[in-house]
Amino acid sequence: MPMIDRQGRQITYLRLSVTDRCDLRCVYCMREDMRFLPKADVLTIEELDRLCRAFVRKGVRKIRLTGGEPLVRRNVTTLIAGLGDLVADGSLDELTLTTNGTHLARHAEALAAAGMRRINVSLDTLDPERFRGITRWGRLDQVMNGLMAAKAAGLAVKINAVALKGVNEDEFDRLVEWCGRQAFDLCLIETMPLGEIRADRADQYLPLSDVRARLEQNWTLKATDYRSGGPARYVEVVETGGRLGFITPMSHNFCESCNRVRITCSGALFSCLGQEEAVDLRQPLRSSEADLALEQAIDRAIDRKPKGHDFAIERGGGPAVRRPMSVTGG
Ligand code: 5AD
Ligand code: SF4
Repeated sequence: MPMIDRQGRQITYLRLSVTDRCDLRCVYCMREDMRFLPKADVLTIEELDRLCRAFVRKGVRKIRLTGGEPLVRRNVTTLIAGLGDLVADGSLDELTLTTNGTHLARHAEALAAAGMRRINVSLDTLDPERFRGITRWGRLDQVMNGLMAAKAAGLAVKINAVALKGVNEDEFDRLVEWCGRQAFDLCLIETMPLGEIRADRADQYLPLSDVRARLEQNWTLKATDYRSGGPARYVEVVETGGRLGFITPMSHNFCESCNRVRITCSGALFSCLGQEEAVDLRQPLRSSEADLALEQAIDRAIDRKPKGHDFAIERGGGPAVRRPMSVTGG
């Protein structure tokens, strides 16, 4: 039975967080003293695989593994290889991954072997010092090695960069140029009020309409109708031939065409990134070896999928939802 919600939106895309842990602590994402889930709450690799298969039976055609940082999860390669079989036998159109790239060098070959064709790598700056500042301790050379390994393994790469006022706003031209040279797609993202952080998000928020206007002084941005299955709107950078995407959850809400749901590593199904409401899938998953209860819980969640999110960033204002991006998955 396909999953169609009350707005008539069909759900064909699942984003699954395989761990809430991360080896970095990006300042806009997590507090340095972030507390992670106890092991017993986290679904096993077998449970994650079973969940994915239930969603594929219900019409999901694309799965993205996220985190936290998915590649720090032990045995994640077992999950990836298993889901790769679904790509090989045609039950899934696409299996992909969002990663911070720190462990990518070690995994790139296996990802490609499992049938992944493209991955998203989060990278907000090309400057090593700045990278350390944003991630609190990350090493840019590790990510660079990972990116080159991904390229060598034949994976198409999209760089995701969060636009941060006063942090990386002077670097977008350089990112466009560098991504063009590397044949990576680039996607700029507006910062969202997800989770408690130390800084005031009003100090970080940069509307992408401003960024785009500034980029247009140096680059010819040609409209395209290319879509990658997510919320990004793309242009072609004529000078580099590269693709540049804009994800604007703040300034333009794209909920009317939402085709996706998210599951946390503890089995909470969030049918909207911007709402608090979740349906627990862990209990039905663990209560029975048959999938009937699980499928009923999924149906319940889809039926309650909110119409949309409505973010606002106000000075001194709190987050729109309490959980950070690393819990729900990017
Ligand atoms: N707002 C916007 N993007 C965020 N990310 C993490 N937290 C936020 C936030 N609050 C980004 C990461 C990564 C992607 C999965 O989401 O940098 O690129
Ligand atoms: Fe980790 Fe991504 Fe959050 Fe940075 S944004 S701390 S890499 S989960």
